Amino acid sequence: MKVPQIKIRSNSEIHISRFVQGLWRLHEDPLGVSPKRVLEKIQTCLELGINTFDHADIYGGHENEEIFGRALAQNPSLKSSIKIISKCGIRIPGEKFQTKYYDLSPMHIRKSVENSLEKLGVESLDLLLIHRPDPLLNPVEVSDAFLQLHVEGKVKAFGVSNFSPSQFSLLQNKLHFPVVTNQIQFNPFHTDPLFDGTFDQAIDNEFCPMVWSPTAGGSIFSPKSKSEVAMLATLNELGKKYSVAADQVLYAWFLSHPAKLIPVLGSNDIKHIKSSIGAFGIELSKEDWFRILEVGRGKEVA
Ligand SMILES: NC(=O)c1ccc[n+]([C@@H]2O[C@H](COP(=O)([O-])OP(=O)(O)OC[C@H]3O[C@@H](n4cnc5c(N)ncnc54)[C@H](OP(=O)(O)O)[C@@H]3O)[C@@H](O)[C@H]2O)c1
Repeated sequence: MKVPQIKIRSNSEIHISRFVQGLWRLHEDPLGVSPKRVLEKIQTCLELGINTFDHADIYGGHENEEIFGRALAQNPSLKSSIKIISKCGIRIPGEKFQTKYYDLSPMHIRKSVENSLEKLGVESLDLLLIHRPDPLLNPVEVSDAFLQLHVEGKVKAFGVSNFSPSQFSLLQNKLHFPVVTNQIQFNPFHTDPLFDGTFDQAIDNEFCPMVWSPTAGGSIFSPKSKSEVAMLATLNELGKKYSVAADQVLYAWFLSHPAKLIPVLGSNDIKHIKSSIGAFGIELSKEDWFRILEVGRGKEVA
């Protein structure tokens, strides 16, 4: 079983793996961040067919891209086998300023991309996402910045993250490129995208949304609240029914959605990464899909 590749938007040429490995928690790996350890995870992902890696300039206090780049430097031949996504736009307070803010000025976008390329040790990003919708976003400025980066070969494709459907459309209408994805939070405890038009827009515009925090930050598998306990019990019960593991039922829930969701895995544990791909091939019945939704929302559909 290998994770398939998927064309992320019908009118673009970019293909990524249907599961993407996220690097937000890379620095939290209990086994450390040595190049050897990071390479072990990259190689495991590649063996499973997961060839796409999701970064952001700010992950790990701005250090995770560099940690990943140091690992790649030990085995540069891997660079041609992987796809790299990164994000820009969030400014974290530090020595130079005190207030967290968003910056989508052409100068900041360019600086962020160039820093990411240097830290990762690669020539180009396969996909650059605007990390958060910026109330001060000037779509024409962003469009010009993207065009320059594309012409210079620094970024192949562009997308957004955490955008509402109207924010997505606004940017799309001004860009010279297709906005190829919207990376959003979605899991059985956070189901807004099913009802607020996010997934409708994706189907209508023929792009695949990427899904972050698919396991609700791990709380589904380390349950504390009553609803988390109920969710894990449900996934275990369905796991028995389909003769698979609970996490595989959860990932099959994402795969069943017609918007062709792309879960971004947050695990540092090779066992968990390997297990996730068992979701492919599971066909959840509609009743079971709605059961997970019901347990997550704490109420049946109307
Ligand atoms: N665009 C955005 O604004 C945004 C925001 C947040 C995240 N992201 C992206 O989305 C990625 C995933 O988000 P996330 O890290 O919150 O994902 P997640 O899967 O919801 O949470 C990851 C946590 O869940 C645990 N976990 C995962 N699978 C497990 C399993 N089978 N059994 C037990 N524990 C399990 C992991 O622990 P182990 O390591 O022990 O498995 C880890 O602590 C990030 O890395 C990042 O790339 C994007």
